Amino acid sequence: MDPSQAHLLKGVTVWFTGLPSSGKSTLARMLERKLRKWNLKVELLDGDVVRTHLSKGLGFSKEDRDINIRRIGFVCHLLTRNGIIAIASAISPYRKIRDEVRQRIENFIEVYVKTPLEECEKRDVKGLYKKARAGEIQGFTGVNDPYEEPLHPEVTCNTVSETAENCVEKIIQRIEKLGYLQLVKVKS
Ligand code: ADX
Repeated sequence: MDPSQAHLLKGVTVWFTGLPSSGKSTLARMLERKLRKWNLKVELLDGDVVRTHLSKGLGFSKEDRDINIRRIGFVCHLLTRNGIIAIASAISPYRKIRDEVRQRIENFIEVYVKTPLEECEKRDVKGLYKKARAGEIQGFTGVNDPYEEPLHPEVTCNTVSETAENCVEKIIQRIEKLGYLQLVKVKS
C-alpha cells in the first residue's frame, strides 16, 4: 500500500553495488521514480551516465575506477548533507573505496544487488560479457577483473528469487527503519 504522506527526515545516500547486468540501474531507477512520486528530493547518479560527464575519459583500471567512485561519492556527500536522497548505481567493485565513501557520507545505505554471475552473464544487457569471454575486452568485472562483495550491506537484493518490486519495497522499508524517512499511512 502506498503511504498518503512521505517525509524525508534527513538526507541519505543509497548506494547500489553489484556485477554488470545485475540489475543495479533498473532498481535504482525504480526507487528514484517511487520517491519522486512522493514529492521527495532525489537525485540519481548512474555509473554509465556519470562516465559520459563527470568521469568522461576515465577507463576501467583500478585507479580509474577508484577515481570514478570517489567522484560519485563526493557528489553524493554534497547532496546528502543538503537533505537530499542521493542514489548511486555503479559496479564499485572495491570494498575499500566503498567503505571510504561510506565513512565520508555517514548517512549511507549500501544495497548489494547479489545476482549470480551466471545470471548476469545470461542477461548480458550490453553484450559485454560475450565480448570479454571472446577476449575483446580486458579487465571486465566478473570475468577477468575482481568484484569484492560487501561484507555488511544494509540491504541485499537477489534479483532471481525476488521481484524488482519486492527489492525496492525492501529498500524503502530499510530507509524508513534507519530513520531517514517517515511514511504516514492513513486508513481508508
Ligand atoms: S565502476 O567499476 O567504475 O564502478 P561503472 O559502474 O562506472 O564502473 O561503469 C560500468 C559500466 O561500464 C558497465 O555497465 C559497462 O557498460 C561498462 N564497461 C565497459 N568496460 C567495462 C569493464 N572493463 N568492466 C566493467 N564495466 C565496463
